Amino acid sequence: MNIDEEIQSGIRSLELDSSEQSNGVVPMDVVKSVDVETPDMMEEEGIIDEPQPDFVEVHTETKGKDKAKAAPEVVEAIDETEEEKKRHLNVVFIGHVDAGKSTTGGQILFLSGQVDDRTIQKYEKEAKDKSRESWYMAYIMDTNEEERAKGKTVEVGRAHFETESTRFTILDAPGHKNYVPNMISGASQADIGVLVISARKGEFETGFEKGGQTREHVQLAKTLGVAKLLVVVNKMDDPTVNWSKERYDEIESKVIPFLRSSGYNMKKDVQFLPLSGLVGSNMKTRVEKSMCPWWNGPCLFEALDSVEVPLRDPKGPVRMPIIDKFKDMGTVVMGKIESGTIREGDSLLVMPNKAHVKVIAIYCDENKAKRSGPGENVRVKLTGIEEEDILSGFVLSSIVKPIASVTEFNAQLQIVELLDNAIFTAGYKAVLHIHSVVEECEIVSLLQQIDPKTKKPMKKKVLFVKNGAVVVCRIQVNSGTLLKLLELQLMEYTIIVICFPGF
Ligand code: GTP
Ligand code: MG
Repeated sequence: MNIDEEIQSGIRSLELDSSEQSNGVVPMDVVKSVDVETPDMMEEEGIIDEPQPDFVEVHTETKGKDKAKAAPEVVEAIDETEEEKKRHLNVVFIGHVDAGKSTTGGQILFLSGQVDDRTIQKYEKEAKDKSRESWYMAYIMDTNEEERAKGKTVEVGRAHFETESTRFTILDAPGHKNYVPNMISGASQADIGVLVISARKGEFETGFEKGGQTREHVQLAKTLGVAKLLVVVNKMDDPTVNWSKERYDEIESKVIPFLRSSGYNMKKDVQFLPLSGLVGSNMKTRVEKSMCPWWNGPCLFEALDSVEVPLRDPKGPVRMPIIDKFKDMGTVVMGKIESGTIREGDSLLVMPNKAHVKVIAIYCDENKAKRSGPGENVRVKLTGIEEEDILSGFVLSSIVKPIASVTEFNAQLQIVELLDNAIFTAGYKAVLHIHSVVEECEIVSLLQQIDPKTKKPMKKKVLFVKNGAVVVCRIQVNSGTLLKLLELQLMEYTIIVICFPGF
């Protein structure tokens, strides 16, 4: 079975955690370091699967639609000083199926002037024709036929909007459990998450129960480096809710302990607010007191505006994991710049095939840019490489400090949940996600168990561990597929095992 099939059959994930998050585990500097092999990647090429189509651009008939892909030559260049004035945040919408992620995303675009009334009317009619009246707002984000017909997001929708102080990239993840790999891809692009929870009677309960995607998405988001969450309690307008303070409080009180146990700091990282994505209440302006007299907190736009931008290093070595690529009078690669700054005219390396490339254009949101820094989701047009020689998971990298490529490495894992309380030992097979890499891997050996209380390595030899354990392992990526890329720095990261049905 190849990776694609494995994923489709419901494999969840093995995740890397940013070193900034503790999750109750210790930094890697307290554990033994190992040598990292750097074999020649070129030899291993050509045996891998096609990359997954993780992203879909939102093409609406709007003022703000993403024009860069369609007509890159006519877009305006952003003035560099203008560009610097506004901060930029990538926001992923996560949560259980039908919680209202696409509806809320669509409403944001409508309220921020990205979608006009005429388009909304057209969507209303189309939704009605499909007997999906209430889905018209979601149609702004759900652009393909299958998504509209079934009322379910499949691929991560992407759109842009701005407030006075911030440019936002919205990533609308699918909630359905079959599309968890796509959700992972969306979350790995994000700085912050909007966790959408339906307050409708029965819906909160289904989404929040064990196995529901409210829990799974939160754990995945945390492990993928989504440091902050806005939790929106949605569908407050629903007749079963009717802006009830009791229902809101009930949901908040049940979700808080779970978020805390997933590693979020309730004071610093999480903010709750009530919402109606469909009606648009408490979104751009605060909800009217006549409707919700008890709410004195911010509306969604205010909350988004007040989120702090994570620390980024524009002077670091260039690192851009490639999510997707296409031909457009040259080779264009898409991804989020994780470190460093890419400028027009730069010479860079595409790793692991060590191809020397030149940057001939950069597109940031819908605009052409002379340069782009960390945190930006961009498209970069390159010369020196053919589109078919690039796979998702490759990294656009600095020449002076190229990214290291390895097939084996040590990582610290926190075992969150194993299927059927299985034991975790050498030989365990899983799927590894690092940025845009999705790769089969195998646990070669367990090196040290970490005491969760003292956060120090335990003395006794470890042969297997169970749920809840923190353990340092030697991991090997499947050499039969592709030698994938791992920055040496990733040694400091934490991998969280969620569970792996299908193995
Ligand atoms: P997936 O993409 O499948 O995970 O779903 P989603 O979270 O994107 O949900 P979507 O936006 O497609 O909405 C699902 C249903 O909930 C639609 O019928 C929406 O009209 C309805 N809905 C969404 N938000 C609200 C809301 O604020 N109030 C009410 N009453 N219904 C809502
Ligand atoms: Mg959706």
